[in-house]
Amino acid sequence: MNHILDLRGLLHRSDVRTLLAESLYRPGKERLDRWIGQLADDVDVYTYGFLEKDSLVGVLAARRSWLSDKAAEMEILAISVDPPYRGQGIGRELLQALIRTHDPMRIVAETDVDAIAFYRRCGFSIHTLGEKYPGVTRYRCEWQRPAS
Ligand SMILES: CC(C)(COP(=O)(O)OP(=O)(O)OC[C@H]1O[C@@H](n2cnc3c(N)ncnc32)[C@H](O)[C@@H]1OP(=O)(O)O)[C@@H](O)C(=O)NCCC(=O)NCCS
Repeated sequence: MNHILDLRGLLHRSDVRTLLAESLYRPGKERLDRWIGQLADDVDVYTYGFLEKDSLVGVLAARRSWLSDKAAEMEILAISVDPPYRGQGIGRELLQALIRTHDPMRIVAETDVDAIAFYRRCGFSIHTLGEKYPGVTRYRCEWQRPAS
């Protein structure tokens, strides 16, 4: 857990913005500002960073909702790792930090084809949502807490 930093209150930092922008489709400055403002204002959004030698090299943002009194669902809104650091287990570590912290019953994410191998390797099932935008097939990725 020592590499993980809670980014609440820090979303407007430039290193956080740069990483969050990786998860946004066509991130112009105004769209990015608006989106980060929404994430920052939403008390149910939790954002974590991964630190490597004091540099931020990964982020994950997720919104918590309640399926029942005790069972939370986390919806991943953004996950990205700085390109030179990809393939070193950082994305998986961010997901594990989310699971350790919130003990969710379910984690869901919507993504494009580029990230589905990552989610599959991390134990998610993948369902196609079809061509949601012209020329862009989207996928729903879902992880369930193993029965104890
Ligand atoms: C998706 C992303 C967050 C993965 O982070 P990462 O730190 O590189 O992933 P990890 O190293 O933790 O990989 C975990 C597993 O997924 C696999 N994996 C990760 N990316 C993969 C890819 N593009 N193709 C195939 N397998 C991949 C890894 O090989 C590893 O498998 P293992 O079980 O054999 O070890 C990163 O590639 C990224 O930032 N992409 C751009 C942003 C993006 O698309 N985000 C998702 C949509 S919001």
